[in-house]
Amino acid sequence: MENTLKIEFDKLFGEASGGVFANDFLEVLAKKFPAEVIFSTSFSYEDQVVTHLIKNLDIDIFTLDTGRLFEQTYETWTSSRAFFKKNIKAYYPDPESLQQFVSENGPDSFYQSVEQRKACCNIRKVVPLKKALQGYKVWITGLRSEHSAGRGQMPQLEWDPDHQIIKFHPILHWTTQQVAEYVQNHHLPYNHLHKKGFVSIGCEPCTRAIKEGEDFRAGRWWWEDADKKECGLHVHQ
Ligand code: ADX
Ligand code: SF4
Repeated sequence: MENTLKIEFDKLFGEASGGVFANDFLEVLAKKFPAEVIFSTSFSYEDQVVTHLIKNLDIDIFTLDTGRLFEQTYETWTSSRAFFKKNIKAYYPDPESLQQFVSENGPDSFYQSVEQRKACCNIRKVVPLKKALQGYKVWITGLRSEHSAGRGQMPQLEWDPDHQIIKFHPILHWTTQQVAEYVQNHHLPYNHLHKKGFVSIGCEPCTRAIKEGEDFRAGRWWWEDADKKECGLHVHQ
């Protein structure tokens, strides 16, 4: 049977969902779905912009703490709490699944194979994400079309069949420069790794800085083929 939220989504936004939306569409969503809109932050440049855009709206925020994040990411989390004065819910991997996985495979098995890497992402990110989205009807992200070829094709407003939720990417069409200027002009706290050649930042052992001319996501899981580099948070791309 088709999900009633999907039917509502088609009725409300079906034809419009291929379009480009103004910033005040976040307000439209927050009013249409009170207490049912949530934003996922990894404290990236992009996510800091989105946090600022939703600061005064009825939109919750969560982060997935994988346990392997950079110290600089935790520092950005701390400064963001003080700056935005919004509660940021933290989600963690299931301790028993993690204990079993690390006991069997060691702490850094993600370097051994794509399967091991995906299994780690599954325990540390994908399963906690499902928990974080429970009870919500709209999921806001900081995805941008410039990030990768797959993301270049994405609609700004979409139905996510994997999570059975409406997904909206407010800054999908922003350029890297627009994002950087916004952070600067509004004096937003940011991850200091961005000043050291890191552009797309995930877990510490799976992220490196990029060199000039490299792709935006070249520093993520750099030892894998480019077409395998998704962690499962945004699976439909
Ligand atoms: S990933 O799929 O490669 O890990 P990426 O780092 O590009 O994702 O970030 C894209 C969007 O996914 C972010 O704007 C954010 O909404 C969400 N996201 C990524 N990592 C996390 C995290 N650790 N916690 C919460 N949301 C995250
Ligand atoms: Fe594990 Fe690396 Fe995925 Fe983080 S990015 S969850 S450390 S495989």
